[in-house]
Amino acid sequence: MGTQKSNEVSSGTGRRALLGAAVLGAGGAVLGVTGTARADGARHGGAHGGLRSLPRPTIVGHRGASGYRPEHTIGSYQLALDMGADIVEAGDLVPTKDGHLVCRHEPEIGGTTDVADHPEFADRKRTKLLDGVSTTGWFTEDFTLAELKTLRAVERIPANRPHNTLYDGRWEVPTFEEVLQWQDEQTRRSGKQVWIYPELKHPTYFRKQGLPLEERVAKLLRMHGKDGRTSPVVIQSFEPTSIERLNKLVDNPLVVLLSSANSRPWDFVETGDPRTVADLVKPAGLREIASYAQGIGPTLDLVIPRDAEGNLTEPTTLVTDAHRVGLILHPWTLRNENPFLPADFRDGTEADAYGDVFGAYRAYFATGIDGVFTDQPDTGLLAREDFLNG
Ligand code: G3P
Ligand code: CA
Repeated sequence: MGTQKSNEVSSGTGRRALLGAAVLGAGGAVLGVTGTARADGARHGGAHGGLRSLPRPTIVGHRGASGYRPEHTIGSYQLALDMGADIVEAGDLVPTKDGHLVCRHEPEIGGTTDVADHPEFADRKRTKLLDGVSTTGWFTEDFTLAELKTLRAVERIPANRPHNTLYDGRWEVPTFEEVLQWQDEQTRRSGKQVWIYPELKHPTYFRKQGLPLEERVAKLLRMHGKDGRTSPVVIQSFEPTSIERLNKLVDNPLVVLLSSANSRPWDFVETGDPRTVADLVKPAGLREIASYAQGIGPTLDLVIPRDAEGNLTEPTTLVTDAHRVGLILHPWTLRNENPFLPADFRDGTEADAYGDVFGAYRAYFATGIDGVFTDQPDTGLLAREDFLNG
């Protein structure tokens, strides 16, 4: 069992229903974390460091504004920023063969670049075990940065986002170093601090190949003077031991991502730690996370589970339990298109049509979450405005 995500792709029909108590209750709670300060607050100077300066609920541009542009491109990051996202997920980080960090959602890049159209790379196609899952395609760790730079990004899910294919071929695969420079340029240009939210992808997989991620990220952050507790860089990973390692290298705000309840972080699988995500979201698991991280990024289903038909049910106690130990919550991922919404918020069955996403935002915001990852930051910002204005 690895870190497969529960809301990455879904389909089917559904009926819209009003969500009763979850929508109506707890509106005011979202503005403040009421839990106790984290146990090791001294190192980070308080519960959340610079994270406290972000508006709440915080709107995180997921892979940029990936609802409108091919994900993890400078074009996608720029649009998220121009729309007003509070923080941009730039990017999901994976390494090249020669040790550079680049922004791709996965090391396999067959679906997010035009690599298949490059005959010179046809013999790089491989089948590998990636966190226990047999995966076929082209992998960043088999390319030098110079080779990767000859590729261009394409839309990953054209069936859901046909308009985005207009931008296929327009942008390169960005490096993390380019993102850090872009962040500085945009901060200067706008006069407002730009925040980024990089994620370390498959750290155990890459460490075993001699391409450890944490040290590389820490080195770049130090070089750019962005490794402090109030630095505008929040770092996330699905592997808790990777976040623990980062906690010893940098002082940035750190977030542990949590996939479906029955999944097991891949570092736990490799080290024989039997705990699943269901264990980590219990009070003892959350307390442990709070000793080295400032937040969690749970799948939305850990906040409000869905029933067998895909409809939202009642919220869990996760928000309260996490806040009690001083952790913030940034669940993922709200997307406007029908297939990604809870069944009771879909509108028809078209895969590229929007459902009642504002209704879904209301339900999730009402739980008291501190922010949310979204592919359409403009929608998220309007939903926040609605929510805060009652
Ligand atoms: O990083 C939050 C969310 O992005 C985790 O899921 O698969 O989109 O990286 P993923
Ligand atoms: Ca991510």
